[in-house]
Amino acid sequence: MIFGKKDHLIGLDIGSRTIKLGEVVQTKKGCILQKFGMADLPHGLIEEGRIKEPEVVADAIKGLVKDLNVKERNVATSVAGYSIIIKRITVGKMTEEELQDSIEYEAEQYIPFDVQDVNIDFYVIGEHESNPNQMNVMLVAAKKEIIDEYVDVLEMANLTPCVIDIDVFALERVFEDNYSNEEGSIALIDIGANKMNINIIKDYMSAFTREATVGGEQIVQEIASRFDCSFEEAEAIKIGETKDNVPEEEVREIIASFTSGWCNEIRRAMDFYYSTYADEEIKRIILSGGAAQTAGFSELLSSETSIDVQMCNPFTSMNINEKQNDMDYLQKIAPQAVICMGLASRRVDDK
Ligand SMILES: Nc1ncnc2c1ncn2[C@@H]1O[C@H](COP(=O)(O)OP(=O)(O)OP(=O)(O)O)[C@@H](O)[C@H]1O
Ligand SMILES: [Mg+2]
Repeated sequence: MIFGKKDHLIGLDIGSRTIKLGEVVQTKKGCILQKFGMADLPHGLIEEGRIKEPEVVADAIKGLVKDLNVKERNVATSVAGYSIIIKRITVGKMTEEELQDSIEYEAEQYIPFDVQDVNIDFYVIGEHESNPNQMNVMLVAAKKEIIDEYVDVLEMANLTPCVIDIDVFALERVFEDNYSNEEGSIALIDIGANKMNINIIKDYMSAFTREATVGGEQIVQEIASRFDCSFEEAEAIKIGETKDNVPEEEVREIIASFTSGWCNEIRRAMDFYYSTYADEEIKRIILSGGAAQTAGFSELLSSETSIDVQMCNPFTSMNINEKQNDMDYLQKIAPQAVICMGLASRRVDDK
């Protein structure tokens, strides 16, 4: 999924609620964050990873590029949703070249779409646990039409798509850059406005991924309908603004009910992981995404799972150009910037 030649690029995370743009320069002294910014999208423009109104999204991207005065045109972005299949499969032992030649054939039985309609990628996880003649492979298939959709929107915004990544892998990249000195199982969980991405890393490699359609927007919608207010008002109430006709206790209950649903979703995913890796123990949960900051959620998750929960900060591994960035703002929104920073640290010739 790689086009273009030049090395440098910007990371652009086109979230269903907030577009994030980050520019990182790699120097001999390490990575420097030059620019970071976000722009909100109107509700409902991106549903289940599909872009409903490309012109409006392209305009929002153009506005963000202009506001941040970004000159670079090469972009890494990412996709997620039902059009992406990520599956751990087992195949007979073979070389990477042999697998490259046979991956379409292997993939056919695992993906619910015609292989002609998807771009396929893979990486070898390692030898099968009990059969040395087999190996485990992570298969990634993305519907060409969704890739085309994102390529079109970037081109409409006068940008050059260079890397089209997958959200969960961008997440993993930030983990590698910031936290990777740990063996064992660690769960990376991003909760945005409309989806939750889970990637469980086992011994430095992704072993399990899952996506669920939950997120911060659920709470906003419930508040908006319960108290008959706009989404914008509901968003403000959610993060603590008080209003006369809106009892705080009721808001707390709404938040508690949805965040408890997120915890159940996470527990189900973990149970599934344990059914494959019975001897493993998830040591830590690293949270990202705007909705991960919902009041009380990380504490609830920690008590429900008895696992240490921590907020991801993608800026710890890099120097920050303080002339171009407001440090307090970056610290405040750090978890929301994670996928974007995973994209911004990619290079055009990365696989
Ligand atoms: N401090 C906060 N407390 C609670 N919720 C927050 C906070 N900051 C952001 N959010 C919520 O996070 C969501 C936006 O997060 P994010 O930018 O990660 O989503 P997105 O990438 O646009 O969505 P998705 O990945 O689901 O398509 C919104 O629902 C917003 O209300
Ligand atoms: Mg997101």
